[in-house]
Amino acid sequence: MISKPPGIEDIFPDRGVLWDNILGRFRLVLNGANYREIIVPVMEFTEVFSRGIGDDTDIVSKEMFTFEDRGGRSLTLRPEGTAGVVRAFVENGDYNRLALSKFFYSGAMFRAEKPQKGRLRQFNQFGAEVFGSSNPFHDFELIWIINEVSRGLGIPRYEILLNSIGCRKCRPDYTGKLKEYYSQHIDSLCKDCSRRLETNPLRLLDCKEKGCRELRSNAPEITTHLCGECEEHFKEVRGYLDGAGIDYVLDPFLVRGLDYYTKTTFEFSSDLLGSQSAFAGGGRYDHLVEKFGGKPTPAVGFAAGIERIMLLLENEEIPKPGLDAFVVYSGEEARALAVKMVNELRAKGFSIDFEPDPKGFKAQMKKANRDGAEVALIMGEDELAQGTVTVKNLKTGEQGMVSLDKGIYESLWSHIGPLKNE
Ligand code: HAM
Repeated sequence: MISKPPGIEDIFPDRGVLWDNILGRFRLVLNGANYREIIVPVMEFTEVFSRGIGDDTDIVSKEMFTFEDRGGRSLTLRPEGTAGVVRAFVENGDYNRLALSKFFYSGAMFRAEKPQKGRLRQFNQFGAEVFGSSNPFHDFELIWIINEVSRGLGIPRYEILLNSIGCRKCRPDYTGKLKEYYSQHIDSLCKDCSRRLETNPLRLLDCKEKGCRELRSNAPEITTHLCGECEEHFKEVRGYLDGAGIDYVLDPFLVRGLDYYTKTTFEFSSDLLGSQSAFAGGGRYDHLVEKFGGKPTPAVGFAAGIERIMLLLENEEIPKPGLDAFVVYSGEEARALAVKMVNELRAKGFSIDFEPDPKGFKAQMKKANRDGAEVALIMGEDELAQGTVTVKNLKTGEQGMVSLDKGIYESLWSHIGPLKNE
């Protein structure tokens, strides 16, 4: 037996229903807010991520699946969606065509992390990115969207963490203060943080090492160092959230593990997930488009982790996949009619199946029940002789005869139609 590599999951149809629900709800809410789907590649030149996410981040320095193609160019399986969407946006000149672009995407992401519950090497995100507006409404809109999806799915318990990490104007003053603070504790820092203290002090705030975590609690807070513009922006985001009645918790150390953020950062977190508590996160990134060679274009986005949301919904009742009908037959002549019926009803949009290998009546009924069919359409010798079909409701056990005179579809619609429209 060949097994799958560590940190990679197979998802079978029983959990697939939940998967569809989650993706379907994101799609519905995002389409409703005028977002449109963009499909970008799973692999990019490595530079897309090193330039986009930042060389000092854990993702780029430790977690990427990078390899050379046959021509010796360095390629990487995407560890997240934003950098690739920005690359596509700039490469296709979209910033010249559209004043405001709102995209969503979904798909597999890859990070070489140590696998544990909720932390995979291949996982799936549903994300959205807005280009071309610095209006704080969009920061709020994205948080509203995740909140709406989370409520709609019935995620039992979660909180929204919110912060602003300033801009090019106010951040240098803050990182200066951070450097000052951490320099006094240099002996307690991990090896990575001693190095990052010089190259990228903000990263010290999301270090997961115990010693660095402890030091963080007394570190200076960014929110007291924001410039007037960032302060106003942050106030407006909070105002929209308050107006919509969405609760949040201010977390002055929420810098998130990617270098591109400016101003707003946010995370949806649930203690039900244990140590990998974040199931969605995002923020504003007003300079990334420029960094990829586009003209200055403010942007904001989020991504949610599908597998983590599935974990949160594990104890909820999952609807089973089902069928409208299952055709049960006996004999060659009835089998030919069953094939015709299956084809005709599938073309009309019914979900319907049958067993092409002739089996006993009992075995076919067992399969009809196991596959979650609403009704069994039974064709035995009697039915054939009379030109009828027995329709048996598998939930209530009720059954009745339907004449095939008017054609299969018309005759059965009266029985299955109401069930379909319920
Ligand atoms: P992120 O916080 O790195 O942000 O990832 C977003 C979500 O992906 C996380 O909240 C988590 O649910 C899920 N996730 C991340 N790593 C793993 C993993 N190893 N296993 C399972 N799930 C995981 C981003 O990726 C940004 N691109 C979000 C963004 C979009 N910011 C602006 N626009």
